[in-house]
Amino acid sequence: MSSQKQVTNIFQSLWSETDTYEEDGIESYIARHQEWSDGKIGEWITLSLQCENPLIDKINILDAGCGLGVTFANIMSTSYVKEKVNIKYTGLDLIDLTKTKSFIQNEFQKEKYHVANLEVELVNEDIGKYCINNKETQDLVIAFGSLHHTQDVRKSIISTFQALKPSNNKKSGYFIGWVINSQKPLRAITDKFFREFFNKFSSIDDCSEELVILANIFEKLSLALGEEIIDIPKYSKLLDLKAGQYKLQSLLYDYFLKCYYRSDESKKRQLHQLFDWFSPDYYHQTTRDQLEKIILELNNDKSRCEILDIVSKNNGHYFFLRKHFLN
Ligand SMILES: C[S@@+](CC[C@H](N)C(=O)[O-])C[C@H]1O[C@@H](n2cnc3c(N)ncnc32)[C@H](O)[C@@H]1O
Repeated sequence: MSSQKQVTNIFQSLWSETDTYEEDGIESYIARHQEWSDGKIGEWITLSLQCENPLIDKINILDAGCGLGVTFANIMSTSYVKEKVNIKYTGLDLIDLTKTKSFIQNEFQKEKYHVANLEVELVNEDIGKYCINNKETQDLVIAFGSLHHTQDVRKSIISTFQALKPSNNKKSGYFIGWVINSQKPLRAITDKFFREFFNKFSSIDDCSEELVILANIFEKLSLALGEEIIDIPKYSKLLDLKAGQYKLQSLLYDYFLKCYYRSDESKKRQLHQLFDWFSPDYYHQTTRDQLEKIILELNNDKSRCEILDIVSKNNGHYFFLRKHFLN
Protein backbone atom coordinates (compact mmCIF):
# COMPACT_ATOMS: atom_id res chain seq x y z
CA MET A 1 0.00 0.00 0.00
CA SER A 2 1.35 3.47 -0.85
CA SER A 3 1.97 5.87 2.04
CA GLN A 4 -0.61 8.31 0.64
CA LYS A 5 -3.18 5.52 0.58
CA GLN A 6 -2.26 4.60 4.17
CA VAL A 7 -2.77 8.27 5.19
CA THR A 8 -6.15 8.32 3.44
CA ASN A 9 -7.26 5.14 5.22
CA ILE A 10 -6.29 6.61 8.58
CA PHE A 11 -8.30 9.78 8.04
CA GLN A 12 -11.18 7.91 6.45
CA SER A 13 -11.39 5.88 9.65
CA LEU A 14 -11.18 8.97 11.88
CA TRP A 15 -13.58 11.27 10.07
CA SER A 16 -16.21 8.58 9.50
CA GLU A 17 -16.84 8.62 13.26
CA THR A 18 -18.78 11.86 12.99
CA ASP A 19 -20.49 11.36 16.35
CA THR A 20 -17.15 12.17 18.05
CA TYR A 21 -17.37 15.67 16.63
CA GLU A 22 -21.13 16.16 16.61
CA GLU A 23 -21.52 15.17 20.28
CA ASP A 24 -18.59 17.22 21.49
CA GLY A 25 -19.52 20.24 19.40
CA ILE A 26 -16.75 22.38 18.03
CA GLU A 27 -16.60 24.96 20.81
CA SER A 28 -13.72 23.41 22.73
CA TYR A 29 -11.54 23.37 19.59
CA ILE A 30 -11.94 27.08 18.98
CA ALA A 31 -9.80 27.64 22.08
CA ARG A 32 -7.06 25.69 20.36
CA HIS A 33 -7.09 27.94 17.28
CA GLN A 34 -6.99 31.00 19.51
CA GLU A 35 -4.07 29.56 21.46
CA TRP A 36 -2.09 28.47 18.42
CA SER A 37 -2.60 31.76 16.58
CA ASP A 38 -1.95 33.92 19.69
CA GLY A 39 -5.61 34.99 19.54
CA LYS A 40 -5.26 36.32 15.98
CA ILE A 41 -7.35 33.87 13.97
CA GLY A 42 -10.59 35.93 14.23
CA GLU A 43 -8.76 38.99 12.88
CA TRP A 44 -7.24 36.97 10.00
CA ILE A 45 -10.56 35.46 8.98
CA THR A 46 -12.34 38.80 9.25
CA LEU A 47 -9.76 40.43 6.96
CA SER A 48 -9.97 37.53 4.49
CA LEU A 49 -13.78 37.74 4.28
CA GLN A 50 -13.94 41.44 3.54
CA CYS A 51 -15.62 42.27 0.25
CA GLU A 52 -16.93 45.38 -1.43
CA ASN A 53 -20.56 44.41 -1.59
CA PRO A 54 -21.44 41.72 0.96
CA LEU A 55 -25.05 41.52 -0.25
CA ILE A 56 -24.05 40.52 -3.78
CA ASP A 57 -20.45 39.29 -3.73
CA LYS A 58 -19.54 35.71 -3.03
CA ILE A 59 -16.27 34.72 -1.36
CA ASN A 60 -14.73 31.54 -2.69
CA ILE A 61 -12.90 29.44 -0.11
CA LEU A 62 -10.82 26.37 -0.88
CA ASP A 63 -10.18 24.04 2.07
CA ALA A 64 -7.23 21.86 1.05
CA GLY A 65 -7.41 18.58 2.98
CA CYS A 66 -10.77 19.48 4.54
CA GLY A 67 -11.49 16.21 6.39
CA LEU A 68 -14.89 16.56 7.99
CA GLY A 69 -14.73 20.36 7.79
CA VAL A 70 -14.23 20.80 11.54
CA THR A 71 -11.49 23.41 11.23
CA PHE A 72 -13.36 25.32 8.54
CA ALA A 73 -16.34 25.59 10.92
CA ASN A 74 -14.08 26.40 13.85
CA ILE A 75 -12.28 29.28 12.25
CA MET A 76 -15.36 30.69 10.49
CA SER A 77 -17.05 31.00 13.86
CA THR A 78 -14.25 33.31 15.04
CA SER A 79 -14.97 35.93 12.35
CA TYR A 80 -16.47 39.24 13.37
CA VAL A 81 -17.43 40.61 9.96
CA LYS A 82 -20.20 43.20 10.32
CA GLU A 83 -22.49 41.93 7.58
CA LYS A 84 -23.18 38.31 6.74
CA VAL A 85 -21.25 37.06 3.73
CA ASN A 86 -22.04 34.67 0.87
CA ILE A 87 -19.60 31.79 0.67
CA LYS A 88 -18.79 29.21 -1.95
CA TYR A 89 -16.89 26.51 -0.07
CA THR A 90 -14.84 23.90 -1.90
CA GLY A 91 -13.66 21.08 0.34
CA LEU A 92 -10.86 18.98 -1.11
CA ASP A 93 -9.74 15.63 0.29
CA LEU A 94 -8.89 12.07 -0.71
CA ILE A 95 -11.37 10.55 1.76
CA ASP A 96 -15.03 9.90 0.98
CA LEU A 97 -16.68 13.28 1.59
CA THR A 98 -20.34 12.27 2.01
CA LYS A 99 -20.26 12.92 5.75
CA THR A 100 -18.42 16.20 5.29
CA LYS A 101 -21.34 17.59 3.30
CA SER A 102 -23.95 16.85 5.97
CA PHE A 103 -21.63 17.93 8.80
CA ILE A 104 -21.03 21.34 7.22
CA GLN A 105 -24.62 21.88 6.18
CA ASN A 106 -25.92 21.05 9.69
CA GLU A 107 -23.23 23.08 11.45
CA PHE A 108 -23.83 26.22 9.37
CA GLN A 109 -27.55 26.24 10.26
CA LYS A 110 -26.42 27.70 13.58
CA GLU A 111 -26.93 31.39 14.16
CA LYS A 112 -23.33 32.06 15.29
CA TYR A 113 -21.97 31.90 11.73
CA HIS A 114 -21.90 35.20 9.89
CA VAL A 115 -22.83 33.48 6.66
CA ALA A 116 -25.85 34.51 4.56
CA ASN A 117 -25.63 31.77 1.95
CA LEU A 118 -23.29 28.79 1.86
CA GLU A 119 -22.75 26.83 -1.33
CA VAL A 120 -20.83 23.60 -0.75
CA GLU A 121 -18.81 21.70 -3.33
CA LEU A 122 -16.71 18.70 -2.38
CA VAL A 123 -13.90 17.34 -4.51
CA ASN A 124 -12.34 13.95 -4.04
CA GLU A 125 -8.84 14.56 -5.33
CA ASP A 126 -5.20 14.95 -4.38
CA ILE A 127 -4.26 18.48 -3.21
CA GLY A 128 -1.32 18.82 -5.62
CA LYS A 129 -3.17 17.60 -8.70
CA TYR A 130 -6.29 19.68 -8.05
CA CYS A 131 -4.51 22.91 -7.18
CA ILE A 132 -2.21 22.86 -10.18
CA ASN A 133 -4.88 22.01 -12.75
CA ASN A 134 -7.98 23.78 -11.48
CA LYS A 135 -8.98 27.11 -12.99
CA GLU A 136 -11.66 28.15 -10.46
CA THR A 137 -11.19 31.42 -8.62
CA GLN A 138 -10.42 31.24 -4.90
CA ASP A 139 -10.28 34.27 -2.59
CA LEU A 140 -9.11 32.38 0.45
CA VAL A 141 -7.26 29.09 0.67
CA ILE A 142 -7.10 27.33 4.01
CA ALA A 143 -4.91 24.31 4.64
CA PHE A 144 -5.06 23.24 8.23
CA GLY A 145 -3.08 20.23 9.39
CA SER A 146 -3.18 18.68 5.93
CA LEU A 147 -0.08 19.68 3.94
CA HIS A 148 2.36 17.78 6.18
CA HIS A 149 0.32 14.62 5.52
CA THR A 150 0.90 14.82 1.75
CA GLN A 151 3.89 13.33 -0.03
CA ASP A 152 5.84 16.61 -0.01
CA VAL A 153 4.97 19.52 2.28
CA ARG A 154 7.01 22.07 0.28
CA LYS A 155 5.39 21.16 -3.04
CA SER A 156 1.96 21.19 -1.38
CA ILE A 157 2.43 24.70 0.05
CA ILE A 158 3.50 25.90 -3.40
CA SER A 159 0.60 24.25 -5.24
CA THR A 160 -2.10 25.34 -2.77
CA PHE A 161 -0.80 28.92 -2.98
CA GLN A 162 -1.04 28.60 -6.76
CA ALA A 163 -4.77 27.78 -6.39
CA LEU A 164 -5.35 31.27 -4.97
CA LYS A 165 -6.96 33.26 -7.80
CA PRO A 166 -9.23 35.99 -6.47
CA SER A 167 -12.68 36.54 -7.97
CA ASN A 168 -14.28 39.85 -9.08
CA ASN A 169 -10.96 41.24 -10.36
CA LYS A 170 -9.64 41.61 -6.81
CA LYS A 171 -5.95 42.39 -6.65
CA SER A 172 -5.18 40.00 -3.80
CA GLY A 173 -6.26 36.88 -1.95
CA TYR A 174 -5.43 35.24 1.38
CA PHE A 175 -3.90 31.98 2.57
CA ILE A 176 -4.20 30.59 6.10
CA GLY A 177 -2.23 27.46 6.90
CA TRP A 178 -0.98 25.36 9.75
CA VAL A 179 1.86 22.84 9.47
CA ILE A 180 3.70 20.93 12.17
CA ASN A 181 7.00 22.16 13.57
CA SER A 182 10.04 19.92 14.05
CA GLN A 183 9.98 17.96 17.30
CA LYS A 184 12.37 18.53 20.20
CA PRO A 185 15.14 15.84 20.30
CA LEU A 186 13.73 13.56 22.99
CA ARG A 187 10.08 14.04 21.87
CA ALA A 188 11.19 12.93 18.39
CA ILE A 189 12.51 9.68 19.87
CA THR A 190 9.39 8.85 21.91
CA ASP A 191 7.19 9.84 18.95
CA LYS A 192 9.12 7.38 16.78
CA PHE A 193 8.46 4.59 19.29
CA PHE A 194 4.70 5.20 19.20
CA ARG A 195 4.62 5.71 15.43
CA GLU A 196 6.33 2.41 14.77
CA PHE A 197 3.56 0.69 16.66
CA PHE A 198 0.49 2.69 15.56
CA ASN A 199 1.24 3.12 11.86
CA LYS A 200 0.66 -0.61 11.37
CA PHE A 201 -3.08 0.05 11.88
CA SER A 202 -5.24 1.72 9.26
CA SER A 203 -8.33 1.88 11.43
CA ILE A 204 -8.68 3.35 14.91
CA ASP A 205 -10.88 0.39 15.94
CA ASP A 206 -7.99 -2.05 15.44
CA CYS A 207 -5.80 -0.41 18.09
CA SER A 208 -8.33 1.30 20.35
CA GLU A 209 -7.41 -0.86 23.38
CA GLU A 210 -3.84 0.44 23.36
CA LEU A 211 -5.05 3.99 22.77
CA VAL A 212 -7.42 3.77 25.74
CA ILE A 213 -4.57 2.64 28.02
CA LEU A 214 -2.42 5.58 26.90
CA ALA A 215 -5.27 8.09 27.16
CA ASN A 216 -6.06 6.93 30.72
CA ILE A 217 -2.41 7.24 31.78
CA PHE A 218 -2.13 10.70 30.20
CA GLU A 219 -5.34 11.83 31.92
CA LYS A 220 -4.13 10.73 35.38
CA LEU A 221 -0.73 12.25 34.74
CA SER A 222 -2.23 15.57 33.77
CA LEU A 223 -4.55 15.62 36.78
CA ALA A 224 -1.67 14.76 39.10
CA LEU A 225 0.50 17.55 37.68
CA GLY A 226 -2.35 20.08 37.76
CA GLU A 227 -1.06 23.61 37.33
CA GLU A 228 2.43 22.77 38.62
CA ILE A 229 5.08 25.15 37.30
CA ILE A 230 8.83 24.64 36.97
CA ASP A 231 11.64 27.15 36.55
CA ILE A 232 14.40 26.15 34.17
CA PRO A 233 17.35 28.38 35.10
CA LYS A 234 19.63 27.70 32.12
CA TYR A 235 19.34 26.54 28.53
CA SER A 236 19.57 22.76 28.18
CA LYS A 237 21.36 21.79 25.00
CA LEU A 238 20.45 18.14 25.59
CA LEU A 239 16.71 18.86 25.49
CA ASP A 240 16.89 22.04 23.36
CA LEU A 241 15.02 23.71 26.23
CA LYS A 242 15.33 27.44 26.85
CA ALA A 243 15.58 28.96 30.31
CA GLY A 244 12.22 30.12 31.64
CA GLN A 245 9.09 29.18 33.51
CA TYR A 246 7.05 26.25 32.19
CA LYS A 247 3.81 24.52 33.07
CA LEU A 248 5.13 21.06 33.94
CA GLN A 249 2.58 19.18 31.84
CA SER A 250 3.35 21.30 28.76
CA LEU A 251 7.06 20.81 29.27
CA LEU A 252 6.60 17.06 29.50
CA TYR A 253 4.40 17.11 26.39
CA ASP A 254 6.66 19.25 24.20
CA TYR A 255 10.03 17.89 25.32
CA PHE A 256 9.48 14.27 26.46
CA LEU A 257 6.36 12.52 25.21
CA LYS A 258 3.00 13.39 23.74
CA CYS A 259 1.00 12.89 26.95
CA TYR A 260 -2.15 14.33 25.34
CA TYR A 261 -5.03 15.24 27.62
CA ARG A 262 -7.61 18.05 27.57
CA SER A 263 -10.31 18.30 30.20
CA ASP A 264 -12.69 19.92 27.69
CA GLU A 265 -12.62 16.98 25.26
CA SER A 266 -14.37 13.61 25.32
CA LYS A 267 -12.25 10.47 25.79
CA LYS A 268 -13.15 9.43 22.23
CA ARG A 269 -11.83 12.68 20.84
CA GLN A 270 -8.56 12.14 22.75
CA LEU A 271 -8.14 8.70 21.21
CA HIS A 272 -8.61 10.38 17.83
CA GLN A 273 -5.92 12.93 18.63
CA LEU A 274 -3.41 10.20 19.51
CA PHE A 275 -4.26 8.07 16.47
CA ASP A 276 -4.23 11.10 14.16
CA TRP A 277 -0.74 11.96 15.42
CA PHE A 278 0.95 8.59 15.60
CA SER A 279 -0.51 6.63 12.68
CA PRO A 280 -0.07 8.47 9.35
CA ASP A 281 3.01 7.48 7.34
CA TYR A 282 3.43 11.08 6.20
CA TYR A 283 3.89 13.62 8.99
CA HIS A 284 6.60 15.90 7.53
CA GLN A 285 8.02 18.37 9.99
CA THR A 286 9.00 21.89 8.98
CA THR A 287 11.19 24.27 10.99
CA ARG A 288 10.42 27.99 11.02
CA ASP A 289 13.48 28.65 8.81
CA GLN A 290 12.41 26.03 6.29
CA LEU A 291 8.89 27.48 6.21
CA GLU A 292 10.19 30.98 5.57
CA LYS A 293 12.38 29.67 2.73
CA ILE A 294 9.39 27.91 1.15
CA ILE A 295 7.34 31.10 1.44
CA LEU A 296 10.08 33.02 -0.43
CA GLU A 297 9.60 30.59 -3.31
CA LEU A 298 5.97 31.74 -3.62
CA ASN A 299 7.07 34.96 -5.33
CA ASN A 300 7.17 34.94 -9.11
CA ASP A 301 6.74 37.32 -12.06
CA LYS A 302 2.91 37.12 -11.85
CA SER A 303 2.35 37.42 -8.10
CA ARG A 304 3.99 38.39 -4.86
CA CYS A 305 3.57 36.80 -1.46
CA GLU A 306 3.31 39.08 1.57
CA ILE A 307 3.75 37.47 4.99
CA LEU A 308 1.02 39.00 7.14
CA ASP A 309 1.89 36.86 10.15
CA ILE A 310 3.51 33.61 11.26
CA VAL A 311 2.91 32.32 14.77
CA SER A 312 5.26 29.47 15.65
CA LYS A 313 4.65 27.23 18.64
CA ASN A 314 6.40 24.01 19.63
CA ASN A 315 3.71 21.97 17.87
CA GLY A 316 3.35 23.95 14.64
CA HIS A 317 3.26 27.15 12.61
CA TYR A 318 0.08 29.09 11.94
CA PHE A 319 0.70 31.36 8.95
CA PHE A 320 -1.29 34.07 7.25
CA LEU A 321 -0.22 35.14 3.76
CA ARG A 322 -1.52 37.52 1.15
CA LYS A 323 -1.08 36.95 -2.56
CA HIS A 324 -0.80 40.14 -4.60
CA PHE A 325 -1.36 39.91 -8.35
CA LEU A 326 1.04 42.02 -10.30
CA ASN A 327 -1.11 42.58 -13.39
C1 LIG B 1 -5.34 16.26 10.18
S1 LIG B 1 -6.55 16.16 8.94
C2 LIG B 1 -7.12 17.83 8.91
C3 LIG B 1 -8.51 18.00 8.35
C4 LIG B 1 -9.07 19.42 8.39
N1 LIG B 1 -8.22 20.36 7.67
C5 LIG B 1 -9.27 19.88 9.81
O1 LIG B 1 -8.36 20.52 10.35
O2 LIG B 1 -10.33 19.64 10.39
C6 LIG B 1 -5.64 16.06 7.42
C7 LIG B 1 -6.50 15.83 6.19
O3 LIG B 1 -5.71 15.98 5.02
C8 LIG B 1 -6.13 15.01 4.08
N2 LIG B 1 -5.07 14.75 3.11
C9 LIG B 1 -3.83 14.23 3.33
N3 LIG B 1 -3.13 14.15 2.18
C10 LIG B 1 -3.93 14.65 1.20
C11 LIG B 1 -3.76 14.83 -0.21
N4 LIG B 1 -2.61 14.53 -0.81
N5 LIG B 1 -4.79 15.37 -0.92
C12 LIG B 1 -5.96 15.68 -0.30
N6 LIG B 1 -6.17 15.55 1.04
C13 LIG B 1 -5.17 15.03 1.78
C14 LIG B 1 -6.44 13.79 4.94
O4 LIG B 1 -7.23 12.83 4.27
C15 LIG B 1 -7.12 14.44 6.14
O5 LIG B 1 -8.51 14.49 6.03
